[in-house]
Amino acid sequence: MTARAASLRRSRLRSGGGTPVVGTVTRGTTNPNRLRRMDRWIAAVHGAELRRAADPVAVDLGYGAAPWTAVELLGRLRAAAPRTRVVGVEIEPARVAAARPYERDGLSFRHGGFEIPLPQRPLLIRAANVLRQYDEAEVAGVWERLCARLAPAGPGTRGGLLVEGTCDEIGRRHVWVALGPEGPRTVTFAARLGSLDRPSDLAERLPKALIHRNVPGEPVHAFLRDFDRAWAAAAPYASYGARQRWIRAVRGLTAGWPVTDGPRRWRQGEVTVRWEALAPRG
Ligand SMILES: C[S@@+](CC[C@H](N)C(=O)[O-])C[C@H]1O[C@@H](n2cnc3c(N)ncnc32)[C@H](O)[C@@H]1O
Repeated sequence: MTARAASLRRSRLRSGGGTPVVGTVTRGTTNPNRLRRMDRWIAAVHGAELRRAADPVAVDLGYGAAPWTAVELLGRLRAAAPRTRVVGVEIEPARVAAARPYERDGLSFRHGGFEIPLPQRPLLIRAANVLRQYDEAEVAGVWERLCARLAPAGPGTRGGLLVEGTCDEIGRRHVWVALGPEGPRTVTFAARLGSLDRPSDLAERLPKALIHRNVPGEPVHAFLRDFDRAWAAAAPYASYGARQRWIRAVRGLTAGWPVTDGPRRWRQGEVTVRWEALAPRG
């Protein structure tokens, strides 16, 4: 889409009446079970925050042409925090109408965009495969806007979490950034390990903030290079399976990179690194 067409599309959405809707309609591609890795990670790292809240609200922002990811997010979050409610927010009105028949206890759908059209500040905003179709230059502003809508930090709480990332069509390869009300915290790489030749295969799924930075001189490029080296050094462990090789490779990475999680998550084919270590230069 040309910049002019995109801007026309934006202005049409903003002139629709009521609260201005912020963002652009993009392709609605989605798939059942596509976001399982992200859902499980959210339940594991954010479940305690959701359990503590009196009325934990999670937003599936840009759920796409069918509401599968929102339905599944509800199920996975409720397994960790039974009072959780999920609101699917989509900028394309026809996709909201198509989702409405799937509303149920704890699950509703609303038309809206980055303004997040809810009365309360949610404990979770998940935006998967949404920013990928925006320009890199727009990401910082969108992050700032979404972080400002998260539940604030306070005594006994770190506040809400924004999880923004990208995956392949069937969710075998995934990379996401997690942000709190204060800004970016971590980057997580997650894969079905049998599908990987090497860790840098995940580069094609980097979120918009990083995908154009996978070039020499940028931290994310150095990280993936070191990860591939650690993977090569861990080759003898391949005879015990890809999972053992991954665990060994990640352990090797911890010497030079601020990995924030441990073997329990690595066993799932994940690794999480502090954002500051991978943030683009300049
Ligand atoms: C590729 S689909 C992703 C669907 C689902 N999240 C997934 O990962 O399978 C992207 C969706 O995000 C929606 N979208 C784009 N910008 C948006 C915004 N600012 N607010 C809400 N939805 C948005 C698009 O209309 C589209 O339906």
